[in-house]
Amino acid sequence: MSALMQQKELAMSTDELLQAQVELYHHSFAFVKSLALKAATDLCIPDAIQHLGGAATLSDLAAETGIHPTKLSNLRRLMRVLTTSGVFSVTGDHAGAVYKLTRVSRLLVVDRAGGRTHLSPVVSAFVSPYPVTTLFSMREWFTDERAAAMSLFEVAHGCTLWEAAAMDGTAFNAAMAADSRFTMENLLRECGSVFETVRGSLVDVGGGHGAAAAAIARAFPHVKCTVLDLPHVVATAPTDDKLTFVGGDMFDNVPPADAVLLKWVLHDWQHEDCVKILRRCKEAIPARNVGGKVIIVDTVIGSAGSQQGIASKETEVLFDVFMMAADGVEREEHEWSKIFIEAGFTDYKITPTMGLRSIIELYP
Ligand SMILES: C[S@@+](CC[C@H](N)C(=O)[O-])C[C@H]1O[C@@H](n2cnc3c(N)ncnc32)[C@H](O)[C@@H]1O
Repeated sequence: MSALMQQKELAMSTDELLQAQVELYHHSFAFVKSLALKAATDLCIPDAIQHLGGAATLSDLAAETGIHPTKLSNLRRLMRVLTTSGVFSVTGDHAGAVYKLTRVSRLLVVDRAGGRTHLSPVVSAFVSPYPVTTLFSMREWFTDERAAAMSLFEVAHGCTLWEAAAMDGTAFNAAMAADSRFTMENLLRECGSVFETVRGSLVDVGGGHGAAAAAIARAFPHVKCTVLDLPHVVATAPTDDKLTFVGGDMFDNVPPADAVLLKWVLHDWQHEDCVKILRRCKEAIPARNVGGKVIIVDTVIGSAGSQQGIASKETEVLFDVFMMAADGVEREEHEWSKIFIEAGFTDYKITPTMGLRSIIELYP
């Protein structure tokens, strides 16, 4: 195509140009949404609304959360972003505005009685300086010769994610445990049959503080659950008389069990490392005809197909670039399939869910 033809094709009316500018700025400011959500979470605004009976004015919110009265007009601006994006709802305007929770902010309410899970530790860990500053190094990582064999995280911080987590993993481990409690509660309700068929024992590999294994042990008391994670991680896990914690390295050895669970573990690793981990898992389980299987809880990009809404599609690919910061990958089915075949597995079954994660049952 000639330069002139290209120019003609790209020619836009004034309206189109101005609309394109809006869209460009909309994308540029997307980070403001995340940081506003983080601020509301840190200020415990969802808790305050809940505590105030489910509806609160700006002055109520300020009094409940310790926001200084001089900041009321700024709080209104913060809440305007969050109501526009559906995190809270609002009725009335100016001083009479009343804010309520939506189904999104309800997930951030901390249940002090401990009866319901909440996801505020996940927001606090995801929208935090480590992942955000890592993504600022993308240009250097893509182009710099010295960065060719390094992960994005190493280029940004001079150490691996796991070395950083070993120095201070408190927020990370709390976020993982919160996600596991929430996700497993829902998966066990929706896809319980996947776990029902586990015979007598299960090992949760890279199981962190054991929240996923604890949910399984509670739902299926006949299953003896073991959690394998790095020694410094299991050293800080809360004690649980239904779980056995083992400190070790999943690249060296996985304790034997009828089934292995890998929840949100393989998306942390590149292809070759996933193959190595799965080979260790395969050595740990019995043959398929006596119940051996690996259960993977992870994203399969596009698995829900045309059922998927735009928020879900966009979150999958955003998460993939987020995982780039941790040297990880979110995968499509064909990428998973290659890993499974190389690791020596013969068959697998994907069960998509309404959430971000699918369940993959993998058979030796
Ligand atoms: C993304 S977290 C997921 C934790 C947990 N499965 C969950 O979903 O809540 C990954 C876990 O893998 C663990 N991990 C990393 N390298 C490991 C290794 N070599 N051996 C065992 N666990 C490891 C980390 O300490 C961390 O707890």
